[in-house]
Amino acid sequence: MTSPRHIPSAKTILLGVSGSIAAYKAAEIASLLRKAGHDVHAVMTRRAVDFITPLTMATLTRNPVLCDLSEEKEGGWKPGHIELADRADLLLIAPASASCLARLACGFADDALGAVALATRAPVLIAPAMNGNMWKHPATVENTERLRLRGNEFIGPVEGMLACGYEGTGRLAEVADIVEKSCRMIA
Ligand SMILES: Cc1cc2nc3c(=O)[nH]c(=O)nc-3n(C[C@H](O)[C@H](O)[C@H](O)COP(=O)(O)O)c2cc1C
Repeated sequence: MTSPRHIPSAKTILLGVSGSIAAYKAAEIASLLRKAGHDVHAVMTRRAVDFITPLTMATLTRNPVLCDLSEEKEGGWKPGHIELADRADLLLIAPASASCLARLACGFADDALGAVALATRAPVLIAPAMNGNMWKHPATVENTERLRLRGNEFIGPVEGMLACGYEGTGRLAEVADIVEKSCRMIA
């Protein structure tokens, strides 16, 4: 069987997953990106694992999942998260929770995803997902604007029925659109 590492156009994609009800969709995103021939590594926040298991993400990406900086098992001298950040061709964060956006905007490196986001020089694509009021809150608007000004790309959120029972803008963009934009950014 062909491994993504043997496909000349294969790129390394870090898939950041945060604690949103839409986190289960990260499984399909990982699967589609892998089928497109890319080497996908999931980086999950501590809360993301309440929504989708690292086992699912490891199985679909066929790579170990980075959840906790203190549990890095890579054997080399370089910390695993820095090695991943250096290798990345794209950091895709899908879904990005409101608190994830806030931490990214402030540059916190107190979890694996924050540390990777600061360390990488790869382009960043962020797909937020949250309650519509959270998305429209001035704090989130400000955080999103700061991230955009730094060159981070966004996709969504889109309008529709939200898991919290409201209708509005806050749904994760369609998985196919996220995959398509990710592939375009690394083409
Ligand atoms: C059932 C449930 C669903 C949630 N969905 C979302 C969501 O879609 N977006 C969001 O920003 N927060 C959501 N939250 C709140 C986040 O999980 C919470 O803010 C958490 O601290 C995010 O952590 P993280 O950004 O480190 O992953 C949800 C919480 C619960 C209990």
